[in-house]
Amino acid sequence: AQGTAAITVRADTPGPVYDKRIFTQFAEHLGTGIYGGLWVGNDRAIPSTRGFRNDVLAALRELRVPVVRWPGGCFADEYHWREGIGPRRDRPVKINTHWGGVEEPNTVGTHEFMDLVELLGAEAYVAGNVGNGTPQEMAEWIEYMTSPAGSLAEERARNGHPEPWAVPYFGVGNELWGCGGNMRPEYAADLTRRYATFIKAPQGTRIIKIAAGANNDDANWTEVLIREASRQIDALSLHYYTVPGGWPPRASATQFGEDKWALTLAAANRMDELITQHTDVMDKYDPEKRIWLAVDEWGTWYAGDPGTNPGFLRQQNTLRDALVAAIHLNIFAKHADRVKMTAIAQMVNVLQAMILTDGPKMVLTPTYHVFHMYRDYMDGTVLPVEIQSPYYNAGPSTLPTVSASAVRGKDGVVHVGLTNADPDQPSTVTIRMQGVTPGAVSGMVLTADEMTALNTFDAPEAVQPATFNGATVQGDTLTVTLPAKSVVMLDLR
Ligand code: AHR
Repeated sequence: AQGTAAITVRADTPGPVYDKRIFTQFAEHLGTGIYGGLWVGNDRAIPSTRGFRNDVLAALRELRVPVVRWPGGCFADEYHWREGIGPRRDRPVKINTHWGGVEEPNTVGTHEFMDLVELLGAEAYVAGNVGNGTPQEMAEWIEYMTSPAGSLAEERARNGHPEPWAVPYFGVGNELWGCGGNMRPEYAADLTRRYATFIKAPQGTRIIKIAAGANNDDANWTEVLIREASRQIDALSLHYYTVPGGWPPRASATQFGEDKWALTLAAANRMDELITQHTDVMDKYDPEKRIWLAVDEWGTWYAGDPGTNPGFLRQQNTLRDALVAAIHLNIFAKHADRVKMTAIAQMVNVLQAMILTDGPKMVLTPTYHVFHMYRDYMDGTVLPVEIQSPYYNAGPSTLPTVSASAVRGKDGVVHVGLTNADPDQPSTVTIRMQGVTPGAVSGMVLTADEMTALNTFDAPEAVQPATFNGATVQGDTLTVTLPAKSVVMLDLR
């Protein structure tokens, strides 16, 4: 990748808000994502608050997680909420048929999830069961959670929570084209209309109804859902995973060369074209952009780590994942007028996780650090970027060497997020600031000597953000030297 990337930041034509809900996280009953990763109950060896481990809570609070999506995923379409309320010892032990065939003790149910949300200072995004549940079961769950009065509210009070909870977001099933019931879009649209009808918020409150949207490039799914069900919904989801080498996931999370590095980053870049494709369809039926596109599952999906249960989707996380995360967060800025929520999969111990645990041990992943570097984007104003980047090639994969986004934070600071995909060469970038005079520039960088660098329980700080000194300002132009294989966040005051 030779040459200089040229970027113009259009501070003179500010764009939409970079919604904080783009940093939503997904926590499913899957592997050790909930049990062990978040919930340790009364295990005295691991300090906890209301059953949730303190070390993980503290790390997540640093990220200012805005929303948590729960209980699935595929798990949601076979989850029966009544099994997760009442005295824990009386709850039925089920089999988690989708994820590893292990016992699901129902220890974490509605009350525990709401505790988690409260402990994080986040909001609840609950995914309902359309797959094998009834509209009545779904309606009663919502009433149980949100109603100030009535016998379900009394039952909630008997179970320890007299006050109704807020449920600002509710998913009308999940992946109805697959694990949610293998439906055709026409049937899914009809069911979405029917189930969504019975999602009722108590007076003075609102529940945003998120329909189970398309997989990857299935624009027909989006078209049928929005054409047939737009009056009943507020958002349509999109799921797209970065799977180097295609489905089923078989690439190693940690052992890879430059070919797989480039293949992975090129696959991550595909999110841009997919969002454009689905947005174009949505624009036809909803030109005012009332209905959000909620990319509520994204991230890398590799073969599980050696020696782990393949149904647990446990994978390590390297500098490559950090680049994937930052590329996505940059792409979402470009589409922030339609994309108001996204959720990386998943929060702890599953797929592209923020945090890995093993018993009492915990480690923050490179992906965690990217979320930390980008957190001041939350609810800031997107400053559109025009970018001309050289291309980086390896094997059959080609992608722009540099990706970028810019947001004026709520603090007034202009933040510019950048990635350099080239694993060997630094990239020089000139950034012309149009409509704002850059004063002092400071920054952070995330990189490492090896593209396979990762954090382990024994070496938890191998991949850490460091102060970045590679930017200089002259007039309205910044000249930045991005180290090879890096994520950089600049702050312009
Ligand atoms: O995140 C893992 C799984 O991926 C989810 O349960 C499902 O929705 C998707 O297929």
